[in-house]
Amino acid sequence: MTDVQASTFNPGPALLDIRGLHKQYGQVEVLKGVDLTMQRGNVVTLIGSSGSGKTTLLRCVNMLEEFQGGQILLEGESIGYVEHNGKRQRHPEKIIAQHRAMTGMAFQQFNLFPHLTALQNVTLGLLKVKKLHKDAAVALAEKWLERVGLLERRNHFPGQLSGGQQQRVAIARAIAMNPSLMLFDEVTSALDPELVGEVLSVIKGLAEDGMTMLLVTHEMRFAFEVSDKIVFMNQGRIEEQGAPKALFERPQSPRLAEFLKNTRF
Ligand SMILES: Nc1ncnc2c1ncn2[C@@H]1O[C@H](COP(=O)(O)OP(=O)(O)O)[C@@H](O)[C@H]1O
Ligand SMILES: [Mg+2]
Repeated sequence: MTDVQASTFNPGPALLDIRGLHKQYGQVEVLKGVDLTMQRGNVVTLIGSSGSGKTTLLRCVNMLEEFQGGQILLEGESIGYVEHNGKRQRHPEKIIAQHRAMTGMAFQQFNLFPHLTALQNVTLGLLKVKKLHKDAAVALAEKWLERVGLLERRNHFPGQLSGGQQQRVAIARAIAMNPSLMLFDEVTSALDPELVGEVLSVIKGLAEDGMTMLLVTHEMRFAFEVSDKIVFMNQGRIEEQGAPKALFERPQSPRLAEFLKNTRF
């Protein structure tokens, strides 16, 4: 039985449970009450037009953005804020840092350190944040570099790697930290078309291994193949969500139908 089937019988507590999330930049409301749940092992993909709030949603989950209303529970922990005597208080920075470590994130821009090798980029957090011994950090980094197909390039600097290879190093770096949830925000959007496939196939492999992932992508065929659930965002709200086949073949919302009509598969 797959994780997805198992979760139908015994959902248990959600790994991620977002309730009524509101986010404003100044006076501009960009998330207008978002509810989203994910079980462990799920792959959920956010789709929607540019500006619909996908990146902002991911950034709230790891507190790269403040949010003004609602709640994000990750493994039952309230992210960012806590209710205290009926008042909402921001967690101390130390707690926020602990919560942030529960997620790993990969972005469109890989942001590797240019003066460090692939291996050093991956070991850095393991040494400085996880406080692993050097041998253990190197062994773990090598395991993940192998997993993304780059063990042979471990001593290359980012400038000596292709965009696709750099992105795979960035993914290995995030996953080596052992997050409960991986966030991927348009990780192939900056890549030359011939390099997209190698990155998507790494992500697909991780999904098959059971990693819990919340993705944003414009690669619809990939989203269709890899996702347990697809969530269509429109103007700061979830307009529609469902299993990929149902959502793509029988969209209920005219806005989703329009979006899909204008999307390449
Ligand atoms: N730092 C910011 N300051 C002000 N507005 C922002 C900022 N970041 C994003 N926005 C606005 O929030 C909305 C959602 O943006 P975003 O989450 O990046 O959408 P998406 O990732 O779906 O393209 C957009 O209208 C965008 O202009
Ligand atoms: Mg975005």
